Amino acid sequence: MRIRNSAKTYGSIAISLHWIVAVLVPASWLSGQLGEEMSRGSEELALFAHISLGLAMLGVALARLAWRLADPPPVPEPTRLGAWTVHAGEIAHLLIYGIMFAIPVLGILTQFASGEALPVFGLFDIASPWRADRSFAHDMKEMHEALANGLMILIGVHVAAALLHHYWLHDRTLKRMVPGLR
Ligand code: HEM
Ligand code: HEM
Repeated sequence: MRIRNSAKTYGSIAISLHWIVAVLVPASWLSGQLGEEMSRGSEELALFAHISLGLAMLGVALARLAWRLADPPPVPEPTRLGAWTVHAGEIAHLLIYGIMFAIPVLGILTQFASGEALPVFGLFDIASPWRADRSFAHDMKEMHEALANGLMILIGVHVAAALLHHYWLHDRTLKRMVPGLR
C-alpha cells in the first residue's frame, strides 16, 4: 500500500492516523464518564487515565491535521445524490476537527481553573497558572462535557454516512478508508 494519498485513495499514514483517533476519541469519552461514577479513592487515578487518553488524542489529532495539510486527501467520490453530499461531508469533517481540538483545550482549562496541575503522562506536571475558581471550573467542565457529547453525536452521523455510502450508494468512500474491504 502506498504511504501518501493519491487523487483516488487514502495512503497508509492517513488511514492509520484516522483509526488511531477513532479509538482514542470514544476511549476518552468513556473514561470521562467512568470518572464521574468512581468512588472517592479511584477518582484521582480515573482522572489521570482520562487526561492521559485526552492528551494522546490531542497529539494524534494534531499529527493528523499536519499530515492532512502536507498530503491532501483524495477527491471525494461522486455520488448519485449530487454535490451537496460532498459539501455536507466537508462541513462535518471541519466540525469534527474543530471540536476535537476544542475539547482538550476546555479540559485543560477545567483542570487549571480547579487550581490543579496538569499531569503529562506521569512524566511531569504543568502547574496551574491560576488560583482555584469553582464557578469558572464548573462552566468550563459543562462546556467540555457538552462538546464531548456533541462530538459523539457527530461521529454517529459520520459513521451512518460512511455506511450509507457503502451499502446504499455503493461507492468507494468506505473502501478507501478500510483497506481490504470488498
Ligand atoms: C471517533 C471516531 C472518528 C473520527 C473522529 C473520525 C473523523 C474523520 C475525519 C475528520 C475525516 C476526514 C478525513 C480527512 O482528514 O480527510 C474522516 C474520514 C472518514 N471516516 Fe472517519 N472518523 C471516526 C470514525 C469512523 C468510523 C467508525 C468509520 C466507518 C464506519 C469512519 C469512516 C470514514 C471514512 C469512510 C472517511 C473518508 C471520507 C471521505 O473520503 O470523504 N470514520 N473521519
Ligand atoms: C487534554 C485532554 C483532556 C483533559 C485535560 C480533560 C479533563 C477533564 C476534567 C478535569 C474533567 C472533570 C472530571 C471530574 O470533575 O471528575 C473531565 C470530564 C470529562 N471529559 Fe475530559 N479531558 C480531556 C479530554 C477529553 C476528551 C478528548 C473527551 C471526549 C472525547 C473528554 C470527555 C469528558 C467527559 C465525557 C467528561 C465527564 C464530564 C461530566 O460528566 O461531568 N475529555 N475531563
